[in-house]
Amino acid sequence: MANLGLLRPRGQSAMTPVQGKEPMKPSVGPASTFDDVVLGRRSIRGYKPDPVPKALIREVIEMAMRAPSSLNTQPWNFYVVAGAPLDRIRAGNTERNLAGVPSSREFRGHGEYVGTHRERQIEIAKQLFAAMGIERHDQEKRKDWVLRGFRQFDAPVSVVVTYDRSIHGGDIAPFDCGAVANALVNAAWSRGLGCVINSQGIMQSPVVREHAGIPDDQVIMICIAMGYPDESFPANPVVSRRKSVDDAAVFVGFDE
Ligand SMILES: Cc1cc2nc3c(=O)[nH]c(=O)nc-3n(C[C@H](O)[C@H](O)[C@H](O)COP(=O)(O)O)c2cc1C
Repeated sequence: MANLGLLRPRGQSAMTPVQGKEPMKPSVGPASTFDDVVLGRRSIRGYKPDPVPKALIREVIEMAMRAPSSLNTQPWNFYVVAGAPLDRIRAGNTERNLAGVPSSREFRGHGEYVGTHRERQIEIAKQLFAAMGIERHDQEKRKDWVLRGFRQFDAPVSVVVTYDRSIHGGDIAPFDCGAVANALVNAAWSRGLGCVINSQGIMQSPVVREHAGIPDDQVIMICIAMGYPDESFPANPVVSRRKSVDDAAVFVGFDE
């Protein structure tokens, strides 16, 4: 079993407020305290080709599954894909994307973002494109970037998160899967692994289902690319911004 001490705050209480703390500079080594993990983690979109040991992935999943879930139902399942099957998924995703096959993901969206949400979407895209040297009007490079996403950023591992179709239709199972996905990327980071949760990788769900051998009784929720971060990849140091606590939280019943 994992060294649980890795996630225990050392020297600094887990209750230390993070307000005023800047996200840490990118470091891709193992992080030890909760704050180190949360402030240091970022989405990784460039990976070393090195394989990730199965035992390490098992440990990360075991840690992630400490996530809370409604009535402790733990609705999540994981299909951990690497090697030739993952390459077949990349090829199928790319082929269908280039052929203009519409998205068929089971993870339901809500159409285009507008207003503040759209502004935030543009902000992170600008940050990533600036880091990658992709000019606004460079259609070729923009397309390459999209295809890179469909290839799950050439990561050596893709963790596909699913849940039983028998509990499909409500919001609770997707909520629980979100909790486990967040825990998983943090557990991976604490062990020197990078991840990016990505819906691009499951936009062509039938391709993923076929090559990962996912039965029809599973709803494909999301996938998470995983591997050792390539420290020379320009987009990896990008730190996404967050709105302030004042913008996000309403305190009710407090004196001030
Ligand atoms: C449900 C979900 C889907 C996402 N899909 C993609 C994706 O398809 N491509 C991508 O590059 N990043 C994707 N991301 C990563 C987000 O862009 C990223 O988490 C966000 O910009 C915050 O940056 P950070 O993870 O570095 O803190 C996704 C994240 C989530 C939670």
